Amino acid sequence: MLNRAKVAVVGVGNNVSALVQGIALYRATGSLPGVRRPVLDGLGVGDIDFVAAFAMSPEKVGKDLTEAIFSPPNNFPRLTDELPHSGVTVSRGLTDTTEVERVAREIAGAEVVLYAAPSGRQETARAYAEAALRAGAAFVNITSDAVARDPQWLERFVTAGLPLLGDDLTSQFGTSVVHHCLLRLLEERGLTLISSYQVNLGGTEDFRNLVENNNTKMQSKLNALTAKQSTAGRVELAPLGYLPHLESHKVAHINVEAQAWGGTSVSLDLKLKVHDPSGGAGVTIDLVRMAAGALRQQRAGYLSEAAPLLKSPPGTTV
Ligand SMILES: NC(=O)c1ccc[n+]([C@@H]2O[C@H](COP(=O)([O-])OP(=O)(O)OC[C@H]3O[C@@H](n4cnc5c(N)ncnc54)[C@H](O)[C@@H]3O)[C@@H](O)[C@H]2O)c1
Repeated sequence: MLNRAKVAVVGVGNNVSALVQGIALYRATGSLPGVRRPVLDGLGVGDIDFVAAFAMSPEKVGKDLTEAIFSPPNNFPRLTDELPHSGVTVSRGLTDTTEVERVAREIAGAEVVLYAAPSGRQETARAYAEAALRAGAAFVNITSDAVARDPQWLERFVTAGLPLLGDDLTSQFGTSVVHHCLLRLLEERGLTLISSYQVNLGGTEDFRNLVENNNTKMQSKLNALTAKQSTAGRVELAPLGYLPHLESHKVAHINVEAQAWGGTSVSLDLKLKVHDPSGGAGVTIDLVRMAAGALRQQRAGYLSEAAPLLKSPPGTTV
């Protein structure tokens, strides 16, 4: 087994809570429910060491990472009573580009910067990407803001010899992957799509933010559904709904209307209920290990094997 990957996290929200807790749980129990790849690039699910963390709220800054993940508005549940301290004290994140150098110094030694701040703040995402470049670290962008799919940013990472993975992860078993699968099945079976929509409701801070600030998220969700198929214009996304009582659950409804042999109608309605942050962490763990593996193998830029894990990889609409 290789040395553990050293990871700095930006944003100590629900996704990072699910990631930190899941890693500790798998390390402690050795059993792996819900894990797609027990070992990836020589790294097990538990082979991640967090070496730096950044957040904005005073309730999180100054705490150990394993305590900060339970501060409100985070509402992902506790997975285990046994959560050893990480030894990483959460630092204040950056608010503008004048702080890039400070952040670059604080992440020195990290192999991967995991960018998990709120979506819809492109300049912030790029400021942290700049810090990763200066620190010589790979950058993983799980938000919908355009970094990897902006050719100029991708070129900068290629030139620096550093991996850049993004943008916007596709949840492990979320609306995008299930909806995409249904649309592909229609095509495979020769049905004609008439119309389709999805409705997403959730009670996390991520949902609250996206309801107010959906400038990059809706395009990214459409990228996940329409990039590879002739469905553009027939698939609609209802505005996201924030329902606090759902807490960390996401409830999604997917409708598909189609025509089968002889023009007869087919109608499908599906309801999906998941813990949204788990869906994120189950994919983040692979993106982080891919990025660390690539850095160690001196592979730079985007990795095509990450495409199934992303909604908006390079080549999709910004
Ligand atoms: N299923 C999923 O969880 C999923 C799927 C796809 C994409 N994403 C994206 O991943 C990101 C993280 O999701 P989440 O549920 O953990 O969100 P979250 O809102 O719970 O956490 C984001 C955290 O970042 C902090 N933050 C804000 N500005 C910051 C800054 N300048 N520097 C450092 N930290 C800052 C916030 O205070 C918050 O704690 C979001 O952008 C989300 O859209 C999540």
